[in-house]
Amino acid sequence: PTRRSSDLAQTREQAEHAATLVGVSYQADQARLSFEKLLPEARRAPDVPGEPGTLTRGNADAALAGASVVVDQVYRTPRLNHAAMELHAATAEWHGDHLTLYDESQGISLTRRSLATVFGLKRENVRVVSPFVGGGFGSKLVWSHQILCAAAAKLCQRPVQLVLSREQVFATVGSRSLTEQRVALASRRDGTLTALVHTGTTATGVGKNGWIEQFTSPARRLYHADTYRLAQSVVELNTVASTYMRGPGEATGSFALECAMDELADAAGIDPIELRRRAEPAKDWSHGNAFSGRDLLEAFRIGAERFRWDERSAKPQSRRDGEWWVGQGVAAAYYPYVRLPGARATIQLTANGYATVSCAAHEMGMGTATVQAQAAAERLGLPAGHVTFTYGDSDLVAAAFAGGSTQTVSIIAAVEHTTNALVKKLLDLAGRDSPLAGAHPRDVEARDGGLYRKAGGAGESYVSLLRRAGRDTVEAEASGGAPMEMLKYSMNSYGAQFCEVRVSELTGEVRVSRWVGAFDTGRILNPKTATSQFRGGIIMGIGMALTEEAIFDERTGRIINPSLAEYHVPVHADVPPIDILWTGIPDPLAPAGARGIGEISVTGVAAAVANAVYNATGQRIRDLPITPDKILVTQAQEQ
Ligand code: MOS
Repeated sequence: PTRRSSDLAQTREQAEHAATLVGVSYQADQARLSFEKLLPEARRAPDVPGEPGTLTRGNADAALAGASVVVDQVYRTPRLNHAAMELHAATAEWHGDHLTLYDESQGISLTRRSLATVFGLKRENVRVVSPFVGGGFGSKLVWSHQILCAAAAKLCQRPVQLVLSREQVFATVGSRSLTEQRVALASRRDGTLTALVHTGTTATGVGKNGWIEQFTSPARRLYHADTYRLAQSVVELNTVASTYMRGPGEATGSFALECAMDELADAAGIDPIELRRRAEPAKDWSHGNAFSGRDLLEAFRIGAERFRWDERSAKPQSRRDGEWWVGQGVAAAYYPYVRLPGARATIQLTANGYATVSCAAHEMGMGTATVQAQAAAERLGLPAGHVTFTYGDSDLVAAAFAGGSTQTVSIIAAVEHTTNALVKKLLDLAGRDSPLAGAHPRDVEARDGGLYRKAGGAGESYVSLLRRAGRDTVEAEASGGAPMEMLKYSMNSYGAQFCEVRVSELTGEVRVSRWVGAFDTGRILNPKTATSQFRGGIIMGIGMALTEEAIFDERTGRIINPSLAEYHVPVHADVPPIDILWTGIPDPLAPAGARGIGEISVTGVAAAVANAVYNATGQRIRDLPITPDKILVTQAQEQ
């Protein structure tokens, strides 16, 4: 039936008022709302992404029982919200059975597929347009609002825009789940690890609905121990969905593991960096594969030098500045390398020597368009200003989604293959009168705006090649292929987080006063955008360490603090100068030598803060966030 357009509100105020007039009656049922009460019924998580949820080597419990140095503690992380500045919003428009959705998305191809399924449309009848995303961090995928928006637009037959309020973002978009983790480490007197146990529980939706934080992920790759036991359990709750949030699993897991490593260093009387040096593995114990490139210790070395780690006193409460205790802490950062299959790219080269590279990629402020244009220009031998990168439209060939730190390398692999296809086409076009006549792709290199023989250097510019062939444009399209390198090697990124805090003895307030992040993420493609990306993750980690917690009312399952006034993300005054360094050592197996950098910088941050708080005050806070009340309570208990 045709509805009049007046059936929908014309303003936000009308919509909010109308919503108050809707009465809902429902039959109340028992809801699962309390993580703590349901902990005894936790079930084993069958797997964590791509790996078994339970993994053992040797008898870790026996090793723990017989060890000379043991640390065995429980760590807790709360529910967190992505708190992207830009609220979730969508605009939907129908033309017959064609739907166009203007979205802010980090997975436009996924959104297109979901909308096609929901509305029973052919995939090509759905177009998702998303040129810019004002912050995503894992939250800007498909939720109920895009579907409601498209349904409303269909019903009233005109374009509809839907913007969630901040409170609605907290209530309807999934976020990071809470965890309770046990880490038990045992070592010999020299600090070499004899046991590494990492177990615990997280929450997800009822009926396996949602993400399960794989917090044991860092323990699978970071350290050598003689024995291991990793196991994850999960509790199902009827609260807001658990979903990916920057460094999902690694952010929470690294808090527990990296605090425990610091506690072990303290117990064994060994410098925490030296402890990690002694735990450096020769290969990935969980798979038995060799590492493709691993320079964690080099990251610690350059970070320690910049931070002046050697000036630190290992003894807590040894530096004081008025009411402030000053302390320093360190932690490792870790995030796996993933490259997704299925990413494609097209390149159009025009007769004036300009190129357009296109795919359905995403720009969330991390510099996707800049980095891809630069990388393609380098590959094509063109000045960066001659290459345009177009993206953000599902009508373009599919790219990787912007998640799991996969997008950049996945697209670069596709652009590499597409460049090869383009070179082949160009050589096919080169006539007998061309200096490139008869040349094979492997004989030529792209440089100086054209193709030139590696031997002898004869060749010609793209402009001349296309003119000679009488073409306005030449186009190529290819896929990045399958990430075969991931099957044979353990490919991961690493880092070292150095933090200095000041803790007020009077108020328990923690201020982060200095930060050095040193990363080993392969080749850095653009120093400026990479620095910004790393800094952003560290700032997010400082929020996780000190202020962020989405508090749930266990009677209703609702969030009590769904606003940025009460859910505290770091503001400028909370953020110290952050120095960013990298090893820059290219990964021999990754496209362009680069591994992803989007998520690693949030990992290890909360642990570095907690370890610095211990160094400042002698207080171990194992329950995030480290708010003043916890410091004051611990202080009182110790006195
Ligand atoms: Mo990331 S949490 O995969 O956007």
